[in-house]
Amino acid sequence: MKDDDALRTELRALVGADGVLTEGADTAPFLVDERRLYRGRALAVALPRTVEQVARVVGWCNEHRLGLVPQGGNTGYCGGATPDESGRQLLLSLRRLNRIRAIDADNFSITAEAGCVLASVQQAADALERFFPLSLGSEGSCQIGGNLATNAGGLNVVRYGMARDLLLGIEAVLPDGQVFDGLKSLRKDNTGYDLKSLLVGSEGTLGVITAATLKLWPKMRSSATAFVALATPENAVKLLGVLRAQAGERLSSFELLPRIAIELTTRYISGVTDPLTTAYPWYILCELSSAADEPLSELLQQTLADAAERSLLLDAALATSERVRAAFWRLRETVPEAQRLAGSSLKHDISVPVASLPAFISEASLWVQAHVRDGVLVCYGHAGDGNLHFNISGIDRARSETFLAQEPQIRRAIHDLVAKFAGSISAEHGIGRLKREELRRYASPVALGAMRAIKQALDPNGIMNPGKLL
Ligand code: FAD
Ligand code: MLT
Ligand code: ZN
Repeated sequence: MKDDDALRTELRALVGADGVLTEGADTAPFLVDERRLYRGRALAVALPRTVEQVARVVGWCNEHRLGLVPQGGNTGYCGGATPDESGRQLLLSLRRLNRIRAIDADNFSITAEAGCVLASVQQAADALERFFPLSLGSEGSCQIGGNLATNAGGLNVVRYGMARDLLLGIEAVLPDGQVFDGLKSLRKDNTGYDLKSLLVGSEGTLGVITAATLKLWPKMRSSATAFVALATPENAVKLLGVLRAQAGERLSSFELLPRIAIELTTRYISGVTDPLTTAYPWYILCELSSAADEPLSELLQQTLADAAERSLLLDAALATSERVRAAFWRLRETVPEAQRLAGSSLKHDISVPVASLPAFISEASLWVQAHVRDGVLVCYGHAGDGNLHFNISGIDRARSETFLAQEPQIRRAIHDLVAKFAGSISAEHGIGRLKREELRRYASPVALGAMRAIKQALDPNGIMNPGKLL
């Protein structure tokens, strides 16, 4: 086996000296994950500029049987983009592969390289009067390649689906270094196995995504946003039904927040204020939008008035300007940041059928109240998709160690309950390193067997993101 210096010299020949980082201070930000759960080491960080360079690096790793860890914006929650502690894996950052290759306004499609930051794709679409609907709190730093590799969800799934639903074509380097050019921009294409779908959600274990052709929509011309107070999650599910019936496809977001989310964000995030003057147990942030010029505020107001008549809501504030709308969204999007600033937290990214949300919340909350010491439930999320961030925050920094020590029992109880409700232990954040054991416990043996067979067929030497997902 070649020594590390010899390997680094070969790597420099593949991507250029400026495309290889080896010094501690340069590599450090790439070697720790967003949640600070994992700190890895790496042979080097490679920063290719072209697909050809990516292909050369992957082929070279395969030849030397070196583990390769792809990394996008490094905002993932499951440690998927962090190398292990051996120092023998190569970290491949896609950040310099960041060109928008084409936008076709007539075809409603955009082709972006994997390292394009999500917000830059949204902006490129907007400049041509088009709309790219993927939207997450991390959109200023996560990348399209990472979004596809994790099949990201976010704030507009109730209308547009997850990253997979927004994808028309993909370009990827397979584990043997071959480039798969699947950059089609077709809406219909039934020619065998859907390889692009296989790469979506594969978290860097089946290849390196280098570019994608994504669906666009017409630019939105009208929107209406409301911050609605409710007594119970049951009423949230009923309100969702009313909104869907009366606003149809115009409903683009339906987010659930508990009272504590308001308390955390107003306390820890500067400029965030409570949209309502009275405190209520639950809230929904909902938005209607349309590409046509439509009186959506009236429609939303009327729908909420109908819901109020049926006693489904307690209070509501409508966004009267873009500034107020942005303030509502800032409150929602900074909940994770506020939770982080408040101290330690345990995260559970789960989903259940939408209709089961109230029963799940009720049963799981009772369990938390009865069994968790020094913690408070912060249960929020994408209720329109049945996806909850069923998180628990430590309430006392001095006792954070004993709080965190309960993690295995808490995770087990919550995930067992999710299984009882026929839900998912990872609704949108993926598996990575964090939930590998959970996948093994909750996935069907048949599904796991098929996944392992696919992995073995495409990556027989096991070089792609070893120790992640499977
Ligand atoms: P990374 O973290 O760099 O990588 C994630 C995984 O993808 C790793 O396994 C990595 O190896 C692999 N990967 C990355 N790029 C490639 C590539 N080009 N080819 C192959 N594999 C690759 N997620 C949601 O789904 N919904 C949310 O609402 C949401 N909100 C968030 C809010 C905040 C404040 C933060 C910090 C995170 C949030 N996330 C959310 C999680 C995270 O932003 C997403 O998972 C995102 O899609 C990760 O993209 P990334 O570029 O940062 O990927
Ligand atoms: C969100 O929806 O805010 C994130 O997916 C959850 C999180 O950041 O914890
Ligand atoms: Zn989320």
